[in-house]
Amino acid sequence: MEHVQLTAADLLLRPWRDEDAPAVRAALRDPAIAQWNPQGGDPIDDEVALLWVRRRADWSTGGHVSMAVTAATDGELLGSVSLHHIRDGDASIGYWTMPAARGRQVAVRAVVRLTDWAFTDLRLHRVELCHAVANPASCRVADRAGYAAEGTLRESYRYGDGRRYDEHLHARLATDPQITR
Ligand SMILES: CC(C)(COP(=O)(O)OP(=O)(O)OC[C@H]1O[C@@H](n2cnc3c(N)ncnc32)[C@H](O)[C@@H]1OP(=O)(O)O)[C@@H](O)C(=O)NCCC(=O)NCCS
Repeated sequence: MEHVQLTAADLLLRPWRDEDAPAVRAALRDPAIAQWNPQGGDPIDDEVALLWVRRRADWSTGGHVSMAVTAATDGELLGSVSLHHIRDGDASIGYWTMPAARGRQVAVRAVVRLTDWAFTDLRLHRVELCHAVANPASCRVADRAGYAAEGTLRESYRYGDGRRYDEHLHARLATDPQITR
């Protein structure tokens, strides 16, 4: 898949670059991101962060699209949004926001923009979003981004503390009403 970049008002969503690695290192060490977006494996150091951005910048398999969410004005890294498991018209979406950028609708706007692009350009039909029931901020992001709640998955995912948590499954269909943010 070819790289693209997307704009959403004052946000620029663009492919990851090597120079993002120091900010990614800090983000992945944030306790909330470490808990709800666990990376598994080795502790997050410079090398792990660099491998992370390089893996995310490689869209060649067609199985994922990963974007850095940045401020359009000065390029500051604000967060991450990505589609995974892209296959047969389906995908799942994940995200995090840097601690200093939270509460400004960064996650909601990034999720809405990437989802719209997935429906129009990738021609996907269904995108799923899962979050731990114990993570209400993420539930709010899902609701605000138009992802309808479809049910609860019991002890379905092992998060950063090693425990399995119940998750809410949300999803948006290409045929659902459009969300404006
Ligand atoms: C969840 C997360 C992505 C939200 O990012 P954000 O950019 O601050 O989100 P937004 O500003 O777009 O929207 C947040 C919404 O959640 C609400 N919210 C924030 N913390 C909350 C909490 N503890 N309980 C309930 N709602 C909460 C906000 O009020 C806002 O709702 P509003 O628009 O009605 O005011 C961010 O907190 C984060 O990165 N957390 C750690 C990692 C994580 O949880 N990733 C998602 C894994 S599924």
